[in-house]
Amino acid sequence: MAKETVLVLGANGQIGTELVEALRMEYGNDFVVASDIRKPMEIHKGPFEIMDVMDENRLMEVVKEYKVTQIYHLAAMLSATAEQKIKMGWKLNMDGLLNVLNVAVECKVTKVFWPSSIAVFGPSTPKLNTPQTCYMDPSTVYGISKLAGEHWCNYYFNKYGLDVRSIRYPGLIGYKSVPGGGTTDYAVYIFHEALARGSYDCFLEADTMLPMMYMEDAIRATIELMEAPANRIKTRTSYNLAGMSFTPGELAIEIRKIMPEFKITYHPDIRQEYADSWPKSIDDSVARKEWGWQPRFDTARLVEEMMNHCKDLV
Ligand SMILES: NC(=O)c1ccc[n+]([C@@H]2O[C@H](COP(=O)([O-])OP(=O)(O)OC[C@H]3O[C@@H](n4cnc5c(N)ncnc54)[C@H](O)[C@@H]3O)[C@@H](O)[C@H]2O)c1
Repeated sequence: MAKETVLVLGANGQIGTELVEALRMEYGNDFVVASDIRKPMEIHKGPFEIMDVMDENRLMEVVKEYKVTQIYHLAAMLSATAEQKIKMGWKLNMDGLLNVLNVAVECKVTKVFWPSSIAVFGPSTPKLNTPQTCYMDPSTVYGISKLAGEHWCNYYFNKYGLDVRSIRYPGLIGYKSVPGGGTTDYAVYIFHEALARGSYDCFLEADTMLPMMYMEDAIRATIELMEAPANRIKTRTSYNLAGMSFTPGELAIEIRKIMPEFKITYHPDIRQEYADSWPKSIDDSVARKEWGWQPRFDTARLVEEMMNHCKDLV
């Protein structure tokens, strides 16, 4: 098998931090180049390049220098932040992706991973068991950029044969890194606050059901999708992927099973509007059928893992 050299863009973020670690276990430290616009908080155990994905020439230089064969493009502006900075959000999420797709074609990169999101769905989308293909009317800048991005990926696959693969991540919950300004961030902060203060003031209503996934499942899904044979990847926009669905109220009940004194209050802000436009649960049967996706974590197991690991961080 030819040796792979992987470049991860946006490597210092919530997903990148964990993905780089997992990819380095898979391909070896020296063959995974981490990159971000910011310096890493911790010293990386392998190559690191400071780079702005908006700078296409620099991206091309790095791809050529390391003879990159795969790119994971994670640099983006997330839902809540992009609503505050509409033009910047659109520019980063769109031009960044187009730079990556162009450089990948130009430099004959064999595979590209780019994440989409459940934010591609909107108020008119069926909310329960949202199908892979359905009416999509995203109501946030972030969701609009993700839906357009999915179609750009499909375009580059059809026009240039670029092997680009994508997942519509639900809200991701992990303990190794902090979230970057999304609407599902409450489901990470709740554990840190529970352990630090015994209480949490939630920015969503108690009964707001959203699709979520434990980070370990999301990282495994990403690598499994990228390692699946190309002929099994029939969907070149982005795959629906489900882990679990819960409300803040239900999450609080699970936390109380471990910490009976835990208290939660609710003060919904603008993020309630974004959450209300998104699905409550996702039908991921196409991902299961085409490349064998199976989640491992349900809500009870997620809560147990988060409470255990976050305890060491407090
Ligand atoms: N975290 C989630 O729950 C979630 C859910 C759905 C989709 N996603 C998608 O997954 C991807 C990664 O998300 P995340 O949660 O890790 O985001 P994050 O905000 O935690 O990390 C993004 C990283 O990109 C870097 N970055 C920003 N601008 C850059 C630029 N111009 N050039 C290079 N790097 C830049 C940031 O410094 C940051 O380290 C994004 O595309 C996001 O839309 C995330």
